Amino acid sequence: MKLQNPSLFRERALIDNTWHSAQSGDTIDVFNPFNHQKIGIIPNLSADEVRGAIATATTAQQAWSKKTAHERADILHRWADLIDDNLDDLAIIMTSEQGKPLKESQSEIRYANSFIRFFAEEGKRVYGDTIPAKSTNLRHIVLKEPVGVCACITPWNFPSAMITRKVAPALAVGCAMIVKPDSQTPFSALALGKLAIQAGLPAGILQIVTGQAEMIGEIFSTDNHIKKLSFTGSTRVGKLLMAQSAPTLKKLSLELGGNAPFIIFDDANLDEAINGLIMSKYRNAGQTCVCANRVYVQRGIFETFLEKFTTKVRSLTVGNGMDNPDMACLINEQALQKTQALLSDALAKGATLITGGSTHTDYPTCFLPTIITNITEDMDIAHAEIFAPIAPVFVFDDEEEVIKKANATPYGLASYFYTQNHARAWRVAERLECGMVAQNTGLLSTEVAPFGGIKESGFGREGSKYGLDEYLTIKYWCINME
Ligand code: SIN
Repeated sequence: MKLQNPSLFRERALIDNTWHSAQSGDTIDVFNPFNHQKIGIIPNLSADEVRGAIATATTAQQAWSKKTAHERADILHRWADLIDDNLDDLAIIMTSEQGKPLKESQSEIRYANSFIRFFAEEGKRVYGDTIPAKSTNLRHIVLKEPVGVCACITPWNFPSAMITRKVAPALAVGCAMIVKPDSQTPFSALALGKLAIQAGLPAGILQIVTGQAEMIGEIFSTDNHIKKLSFTGSTRVGKLLMAQSAPTLKKLSLELGGNAPFIIFDDANLDEAINGLIMSKYRNAGQTCVCANRVYVQRGIFETFLEKFTTKVRSLTVGNGMDNPDMACLINEQALQKTQALLSDALAKGATLITGGSTHTDYPTCFLPTIITNITEDMDIAHAEIFAPIAPVFVFDDEEEVIKKANATPYGLASYFYTQNHARAWRVAERLECGMVAQNTGLLSTEVAPFGGIKESGFGREGSKYGLDEYLTIKYWCINME
């Protein structure tokens, strides 16, 4: 890994603004998912070491919460400036550990930084309320206060943005945050930590612990000093964390699995719909929780759609993320096996393979962008969160039918539809059961809008003014003036 600033590559946990190995000397190896070369190690911290970080945060947060929002914002902006200055190195670190094309890593760093800048400013607008009273002697005041020490567990698919989306609002309002990054992609997190110290963040406010996910998840969800836990990952683990958090009634945000329908009506601008679909489906090799998981195309345009879509998908380049192809490798062997198993099950039950369908001949960790049709309900792919570059395409006849099918899932994260008809747009947007709906675009993520789901996709919102509320508590103050 050739970095202009090699000090960004840290192989230690960040506790109390110092870099720590595990006292036991235990480490976890981290590999490049494209070529399986080892790129470094991280400490496998013990439970006591993780609890030590919580104790540090508990003390440090007191002083941090007493700073003004403007003082905290100054530090956050300095952090964001340093991230901008080191963007190319941060992207190299990300592509080395996650595999995504360098251009996608660069755009993720910009996306990650947008949360820091947004929340630095939004933290200055934590307004309380005064509520008109029913008696002349009474006054009712609402104060908003930081929730306290927070923890978050972040995934490998967006190794930086999923961190800043949680850390920035927490820090902006006066909370401290302990991050547990995924062990497959820890170096992006640690590099962000290095820059946060350089920006002047006081010790104990942002800490990054590494080690066994299960053990750290249990400590985060059961420790009474942690007042808020934010998790992005699978629905299975989200439910476990929620159950473990019940005895301490911890405030939670859970951003869990998705199964996004992508609906193209016959009045859509077809070329734009296909561009949006490619962006949604194949970004990060299909490893996003908001990516198109089920593509529904109205019968009248189906043949034309399939021809155009297939031509475009066949033109996508695939390879080493460092060479900046359109699509790169999957995260690990397990992901490749799951992809192959979903496809084999569908083909064995009668699906038709239109293009792709295997790994790249020269790059065995890359799965080709794939399209399949003739999907039936008995196929696993009709229900699973695919998390891979396979687009299953269904045909539908009318609006009522497609809305029913789109909603027939326990998940409710993102949905997409393409139409030029305004009345239909309102009907569809209102009836789709999801936390986020995109019309005539394949990309809805931005720091200024609320990201999150309903049903078994979880709860809580990230980004936007709503993302700030997740790190605040409301204190009602009743004053008798007599
Ligand atoms: C995710 O896949 O978890 C996040 C994707 C995004 O922010 O666009």
